[in-house]
Amino acid sequence: MPKRPAQDTYSAVDAFVEATLFAAPDEALAATVAATAAARMPEIQVSAPQARLLEILCRAVNARRILEFGTLGGYSTIAMARTLPPDGLLTTLEFDPDHAEVAWENIEAAGLADMVDLRVGAALETLPLLASEGAGNFDFVFIDADKLNTPAYFAWALDHTRPGGLIFADNVIRDGAIVDPEADEAAAAQRTFHEYLAEEPRVTATTIQTVGSKGYDGFTLAAVLAG
Ligand code: SAH
Ligand code: DHB
Ligand code: MG
Repeated sequence: MPKRPAQDTYSAVDAFVEATLFAAPDEALAATVAATAAARMPEIQVSAPQARLLEILCRAVNARRILEFGTLGGYSTIAMARTLPPDGLLTTLEFDPDHAEVAWENIEAAGLADMVDLRVGAALETLPLLASEGAGNFDFVFIDADKLNTPAYFAWALDHTRPGGLIFADNVIRDGAIVDPEADEAAAAQRTFHEYLAEEPRVTATTIQTVGSKGYDGFTLAAVLAG
C-alpha cells in the first residue's frame, strides 16, 4: 500500500512548485514575507501557489476593482494589485493598525501605493463608509479576515460585485472543522456560510479542499450571475 501523504509531503510539493514555477526572484513578495516575520505578525499569508491562483483569477476577470478583507502584511494585496491596469484600484480592509502600518510600507516598497486604498478598522464598520462613498462594481473580492464574519462579508460583497465577478473566501475547511459538530464558532460560521450559499440564487459557488505548506484547508469560489 502506498503511504498516505502527510504534511511533510504537502510542504515538499509546495517547495517543488515554488522552485519550478516561481524560480524567478520576486523581491516584493519576499520582502513582504520577511517584514511580516520581523514584525512578529502571524505568518498566515497565502502561500506562493495560492497567491498565484488569486493573481490568475484577477486576470481572468480583467479586474479593475478589487476588494480584500484582511490585509495582514500586504502579501496577497501585492499579488493581486500587480494585476491591475493603470486606472485600477484595490481596496483592502485591516482591523489591526500595526498590521496596516507594516502592510503600507510593503505596498509602497512594491510601488503600488497609487493602486491600493488601505482602510484601517473593523471591516463591518468600514463597509458602510465605503458604500456611502459609492464603492462597488467590484470584479474580484478576496475574503480573508476574521472567519466568524465570512458570511456577513460575503453578503456585502455580493451586493457590490458586478455580474461575472468572482468572490473567493479563504480558510473555509480548516482541517475539516467545517464538518465537526464540536468545532469552534469560526468553523460553525463556515457551515452557516454554505447553508446561505445554497439559498442564494445570485451566485454559483463551489468549495475546493486544499493541502500545501499551510496544511489542510480549502476555499469557496463564487461567480456572480447576470441579472
Ligand atoms: N490576506 C492576507 C492574510 C490576512 S490574515 C494574506 O494572505 O497576505 C487576516 C487579517 O485579518 C489579519 O491581519 C487580521 O488582523 C485581520 N482582521 C481580523 N479581524 C478583522 C476585522 N474585523 N476587519 C478587518 N480585518 C480583520
Ligand atoms: C488563519 C487565518 C488565515 O487567513 C489563514 O489563511 C490561516 C490561518 C488564522 O487566523 O489562524
Ligand atoms: Mg487566509
